Amino acid sequence: MMTYEQVKELLTEKDQMQLLKYYDELDENGKKNLLTAIANIDWSFEEDLKNPVDMSGKGRDIRPISGLRQAEIQRRKAEFEEIGIQAIKEGKVAAVLLAGGMGTRLGVDGPKGAYDIGVTKPLYIFEQQMKNLMEVVDKCGVFVPLYIMTSDKNHDQTTSFWKEHGYFGYPETAVKFFKQDMAPAVDFNGKIYLEKKDTPALSPNGNGGWFSSLKRAGLCEDLHEKGVEWLNIYAVDNVLQRIADPVFVGATIESGVNCGAKVICKTEPKEKVGVICMDGNQPDIIEYYELTDEMANQKDEDGNLAYCYGAIMNYLFRLEKLEEIVNKKIPVHIVEKKIECVGEDGISRKPDKENGKKFETLAVDLIKPMGSVLPFEVVREKEFAPIKNKTGVDSVESARELLKKNGVEL
Ligand code: UTP
Repeated sequence: MMTYEQVKELLTEKDQMQLLKYYDELDENGKKNLLTAIANIDWSFEEDLKNPVDMSGKGRDIRPISGLRQAEIQRRKAEFEEIGIQAIKEGKVAAVLLAGGMGTRLGVDGPKGAYDIGVTKPLYIFEQQMKNLMEVVDKCGVFVPLYIMTSDKNHDQTTSFWKEHGYFGYPETAVKFFKQDMAPAVDFNGKIYLEKKDTPALSPNGNGGWFSSLKRAGLCEDLHEKGVEWLNIYAVDNVLQRIADPVFVGATIESGVNCGAKVICKTEPKEKVGVICMDGNQPDIIEYYELTDEMANQKDEDGNLAYCYGAIMNYLFRLEKLEEIVNKKIPVHIVEKKIECVGEDGISRKPDKENGKKFETLAVDLIKPMGSVLPFEVVREKEFAPIKNKTGVDSVESARELLKKNGVEL
């Protein structure tokens, strides 16, 4: 542990002395908390602030990427499914649930997956996703090992929720939890906020670091022992998420790529989704605001939009390649957010508007270092019901409608 003197020296050098503003008021425990938290801060954000990644898309050689469309998937479904089922049966596929986010837009305390979307009876987001996974388990006759990423902010609540609910019918031994890393949240001048008088404001560092966190938690050995070769990562907020989908697994394996990405096809040129593309000879993602009008409207030889593959946070990654690229740096996105902090009056509260910046990496940025990707089209109404907000677009309401359309009783 660092002493007060050492911490003071460090913070003076970093010009972050505001973190010790309330030190003298704290009790022994509070002092210890604060010193330990400061000693554990990951300072790489300083470099990210100094040299923000260029998000303008300039200087890139963006081109359309080819992918598997529904027509072809349907035609070759039996072939893909057989390959996928075989791989799952042989234990080569594991699932990784990314549930370390804060779900600020939904605005509920606690893990997003513990949110009850039921109407006449409780139905938790985690529960609905596990029902989807159980369909694959029943078909293949094996439990797909499941790894769940949490963060310091929701770990204890998440693990106790799963325990309370009997792991939603899954064997406890097939489920493992690991925590992602945290990054400081700063004001517009780069000063780290205090969330409480004895706690610097830290928040989950985005979903892009999931593999390095899994590795740090010692779970790569576990994957190797089990003979896992593919990791299917998925977001907690899509209640129509198909996990370890044998057809998707089979198509990805058969195509020889390092990564498969479930995508929805854009319905109109200006739809606000990032799309998978090529940058020179590497796969990449281009955000909707980076697409020129000409690119947005460009058609392929079949008359479809050339830039149409919107990623939905369901990827299948080849483990061997992930291990090879784990130390490569991926872009850190600096995003303006509402950060809970101690005000002038010494009281902590959440602001009503953005008051600073957080640092996040994104899972989609891993597809570039993966080197190759297969966009795999899914039917939007069947597989994409994201819950980001309480009402309106991508909300609890819209997800309920989509669940009903898919025959789920609420
Ligand atoms: P979002 O980008 O929607 O973020 O996450 P969020 O934190 O859940 O919600 P907002 O932006 O605060 O409203 C997409 C997926 O990535 C996971 C989330 O749990 C969700 O499954 N995620 C996000 C992480 O696992 N870690 C993070 O640091 C951020």
